[in-house]
Amino acid sequence: MMGLLHRILVASLGLVLAGPVLAADVAAGAEKAKTICAACHGADGSGVPAFPDYPKLAGQHQDYLQRTLREYKTGGRKNAIMAPMAQTLTTKEIADVAAYFASQPGTLHVRR
Ligand code: HEC
Repeated sequence: MMGLLHRILVASLGLVLAGPVLAADVAAGAEKAKTICAACHGADGSGVPAFPDYPKLAGQHQDYLQRTLREYKTGGRKNAIMAPMAQTLTTKEIADVAAYFASQPGTLHVRR
């Protein structure tokens, strides 16, 4: 009896953990990055030589990228180039592309 109860508890915990999390899809983010963002930020987010003053995204924190893209989209952060870029992305696509750039090895790091 206790064994069964234990198994039910473990199984439902598994469902809780696996269920509601809207996992970001890094592969889908990579696809977006290569088709839309690459021209200005590089396919891996490490920048392009033609635009040395455009920000690097590779290795940036995922939550920073996600928040920034949401702010470009809603007007909280204003930029004539990035606003229309962010407006083409859904909430899910923003999470995906943020996860992709965050996963790329980059030169951005926090000095401690
Ligand atoms: C036509 C060029 C161009 C394209 C294409 C482009 N960006 Fe940008 N991006 C910029 C510029 C310029 C800035 C700096 C804007 C500013 O000063 O706010 C920027 C800034 C950003 C920032 C803020 C970085 C920071 O350090 O705060 C993020 C995040 C970003 N872009 C993500 C993306 C993503 C994701 C895509 C593809 C969906 C994309 N960009 C496509 C030019 C571009």
